[in-house]
Order: sequence, then structure tokens, then C-alpha cells
Amino acid sequence: MTVRPVRRADLDHVIAIDATVTGLEKRAYWQRVYRRYGVAAVGEQRWFLVAMADRKVVGFLIGEVRDWEFGSPPCGWVFAINVDPSARQGGIGTRLLESLSTALRETGVRKLRTLLHHDNTLILSFFRSQGMMAAPLIPLEMDVAAAAVADGAAEAAR
Ligand SMILES: CC(C)(COP(=O)(O)OP(=O)(O)OC[C@H]1O[C@@H](n2cnc3c(N)ncnc32)[C@H](O)[C@@H]1OP(=O)(O)O)[C@@H](O)C(=O)NCCC(=O)NCCS
Repeated sequence: MTVRPVRRADLDHVIAIDATVTGLEKRAYWQRVYRRYGVAAVGEQRWFLVAMADRKVVGFLIGEVRDWEFGSPPCGWVFAINVDPSARQGGIGTRLLESLSTALRETGVRKLRTLLHHDNTLILSFFRSQGMMAAPLIPLEMDVAAAAVADGAAEAAR
């Protein structure tokens, strides 16, 4: 098995593997990701890597360096990792993450972060096995659609 940067011809396989998890064929989304993290990413600290076995894409990972977000020194982020269900538990996910970690080390980045849903015990077990620990950060979110509706209602009442 080898790990290399994605090529346009890999996209159909990437889309198919993603669809096994999400149930959605997000072709337009993946074309955009390819443009940003594939072709345009050379030398830009963005990585869209695929794992190949017998000339077939069996997994992929996407990550990047993010600089000084909310005061954090440049750090690596992995925001997508997926291994073909028929090829799991054979070390492919580990190889993909190692490839990103190596690339990050070579650019001088010392920290790798990710975000996951607390219900996703599979991805949590995987990241935990790779040495990832809880970080001193908290994710926050709000419903901007609801806020806009409330603003509109307040405006109408004035
Ligand atoms: C998580 C995932 C990437 C792991 O890939 P993989 O190639 O199977 O992982 P590896 O074989 O390298 O496993 C490394 C370690 O992860 C853990 N792990 C992997 N699969 C596991 C499972 N089914 N249950 C519990 N732990 C597991 C184990 O600790 C394993 O080490 P071990 O083999 O010594 O037990 C893969 O299962 C996957 O793609 N899952 C879906 C991911 C997903 O939901 N993506 C969407 C969000 S981006």
C-alpha cells in the first residue's frame, strides 16, 4: 500500500468511499475540495492524500496548516479521513495519518488537531489509538437562521 497526493482520476473512488459513510454523493463538494486541496495545494501546506492498494483508492485524508486562529500558533488540522469499509483495520488509516504527521513535522508544525462528533466512537477509538488527547479548546455553535428570524420579528414589531 502506498500513500500519494490525490489525482483527478481518483475522485470517483473518493466520492464512493465518502458515500459509504454519509449516504450522499456530494460530487460538487468534492470537485471544490479537489480544486482547493488537490491541484492548488502544492507547496501551500494543504494535503489531500489517497492510500492506494492494487491500483485502487482504499482511503483518503485531507488536512492543512491553520495559522494563528484565535491566537493559536500554526497547527495541523485533519478534517476528513475515510477508509473503504472493505479495507479497514489493516493499518491504512494509521498510514494516512502518519503521512500527514510527517509532512507537518517537515514544515515545523508541532501540533495536530481534529474535531469529531462525540457519538462517533469508531473515529474516536482510531484517533485515540494514534495518540490524540482531549484538547484545551471548546467548539461553540449557534443557529444563525433562528437569530435572523428573531431579528426580523423584532424589526417588524418596531
Ligand atoms: C476510523 C478509520 C479511518 C480507521 O481506519 P483503519 O484503516 O481501519 O484504521 P487502522 O487499521 O489504522 O487502525 C488503527 C487503530 O484504530 C483503532 N480502530 C480501528 N478500527 C476500529 C474499530 N472498528 N473499533 C475500535 N477501534 C478501532 C484501533 O485501535 C486500531 O489499532 P489496532 O489495529 O492495533 O487495534 C476507518 O474506520 C473509517 O474510515 N471510519 C469511518 C470514518 C468516518 O466516519 N469518517 C467521517 C468523518 S471525517
